[in-house]
Amino acid sequence: MLDFIGKKRRTHFAENLNINNGEEKVTLMGWVHRRRDLGGLIFIDLRDVSGIIQIVFHPENEEIHKKAGKLRNEYVIGISGIVKARSESNINKNIKTGKIEIEVQELLLLNDSEPLPVQINENILAEEDLRLKYRYLDLRREKLKKIILLRHEVVFAIREFLTRKNFFEIETPMLMKSTPEGARDYLVPSRVFKGKFFALPQSPQIYKQLLMIAGFDRYFQIARCFRDEDLRADRQPEFTQLDLEMSFVTQDEIFEINEELFRYVFEKTINIKLQTPFPRLTHEQAMQRFGIDKPDMRFGMELINLSEILQNSEFTVFSSALQAEGSVRCVVAEGCATYSRKQIDNLVNIARHLGGKGLAFCKVDENGLNAGITKFLSETEKEEILKKTGAKNGDLILFAADSNKMVFKILAEIRNHFGRELKLYENDEFNFVWITDFPLFEYDDEKQKWETAHHMFTLPKEEHLKYFETKEYDKIEGQLYDLVCNGVELSSGSIRCHRLDVQKKIFDVLGFTEEELNEKFGFFLNALKYGTPPHGGIAPGIDRIVMIMAKAESIRDVIAFPKTLQAADLMSESPSPVSPEQLDELGIAVTTKTQRHEEKR
Ligand code: AMO
Ligand code: AMP
Repeated sequence: MLDFIGKKRRTHFAENLNINNGEEKVTLMGWVHRRRDLGGLIFIDLRDVSGIIQIVFHPENEEIHKKAGKLRNEYVIGISGIVKARSESNINKNIKTGKIEIEVQELLLLNDSEPLPVQINENILAEEDLRLKYRYLDLRREKLKKIILLRHEVVFAIREFLTRKNFFEIETPMLMKSTPEGARDYLVPSRVFKGKFFALPQSPQIYKQLLMIAGFDRYFQIARCFRDEDLRADRQPEFTQLDLEMSFVTQDEIFEINEELFRYVFEKTINIKLQTPFPRLTHEQAMQRFGIDKPDMRFGMELINLSEILQNSEFTVFSSALQAEGSVRCVVAEGCATYSRKQIDNLVNIARHLGGKGLAFCKVDENGLNAGITKFLSETEKEEILKKTGAKNGDLILFAADSNKMVFKILAEIRNHFGRELKLYENDEFNFVWITDFPLFEYDDEKQKWETAHHMFTLPKEEHLKYFETKEYDKIEGQLYDLVCNGVELSSGSIRCHRLDVQKKIFDVLGFTEEELNEKFGFFLNALKYGTPPHGGIAPGIDRIVMIMAKAESIRDVIAFPKTLQAADLMSESPSPVSPEQLDELGIAVTTKTQRHEEKR
């Protein structure tokens, strides 16, 4: 028989109690985390949002003791009792409340529970699909709960900091116009305007710029963003940005306020003091040194360009890459000359997986280079390689020869692989770096057209405007920046194009016709005409920040109700079919082609 809570009021949370509460009468509410019957005494670990405390039922108190005997894991109870100090030998050092326990005088059974389909125990984790189906139970786990609470602290600290710095939090629409922004849009059909659609925002980019035009000067929003793209360990189809924008601002000011913000949030929530200013690398430097625009700077092992040394190489793998205006570069894995054939094949497979043709290697012993491709190298080349790389006896050198793009891609991945494999960094390090001066455009070989490297609202550098006339679009750099931490892109932003003439040039390079422009961006281009202040901003990804802070392995761990890699919600089983009436109202018909596609899945 279940009890009602009646007028009973909770007086404390479990972990607020300590030895100073000795002999106090307290009332707690929570879940039966664990139960042990010990020769008459019944011990229960009572769990609430704060943590765990031991409560004890003595056999002398017959009625309650009998009731306690019926409690099972995850039953919901309310208890009143007296806080008692435990004897020295009974202290449990593993829990915060281990020096005390509560002798129960009253027990309310507020609800029972069926046996759980997933255990709330870090050591016997069920497979992730099952945990996602029962996410509300998985969230009872201490580890997940702590991350979700940390996320709250982080967002709270952000709001506090920015509000003090004269930013206004302003909401922008969830239902907006579909505008090309990089990823695929999630579309929402309109009932009123049949055959027409809203899109969910990929980010509030256009709206925050409109708010600057409106004169709000400093805006932020904890903004939900939606992108229908291929998912990875650090990507979700809906995620949260701290979106911010400032008027009359320079890139340096944006960096400074972000550094201060990160310093504040890290210190306040996890008590880590970050060193600021964060170092800066240009995009070009990052690529040359690390092969990637989000370098993990916790370790060295930088890329070394051997193209000059090998310009007359007789090894065709090298010479053909160089003839095709590519490069030959290498990384040195210290102490890895002991790698077996199989271990090296593994590395070669990484390169192949990325679309590379292979990965060449040499080992270093006391006499210099040996094994692998050593036989294809001249004496001078061997000497020069040793000199330039500084490789020592016992090291392994790995070479990639291809287009620069492919060489960077391969060696960056190989470098990160060794970072993990050789544990080249401490896990509790936070190594921030700004990456600046990105190219504004990238040529998409597949689509055979220019695309923006970040987004189309970025202001080119003034001194590069001339390249629009000469059509040397690859030379145009934008006032564009990313903030990277431990090899993860945390934030991205830019100084925006506040001038209509320049914005039009950008759209021109991207190949929009006047008609398309008006149809897609007319409202925005129009707005630029009416006194747009110079402005810029940035958007740190909240999920990724919390992931880094909590050292979570998956982005799903920092989101209360995440989606799977297939962008599905296993708990509510969505996406799901809707009724013919609903479709009819929207003027939408699901084609038989779609149905067949679904049946095949
Ligand atoms: P961008 O598209 O680079 O920039 O996104 C900014 C930051 O948002 C996070 N992020 C994601 N997090 C989780 N899952 C995803 N699928 C995902 N995609 C992006 C990252 C990223 O650094 N409007 C611009 C910002 C600006 O210019 O101010 C924008 O959205 O942490
Ligand atoms: P192959 O001539 O294809 O037998 O390759 C000889 C060696 O060079 C093998 O170890 C390949 O993995 C490696 N290799 C092939 N192509 C490349 C490349 N583009 N860059 C680096 N190494 C390569």
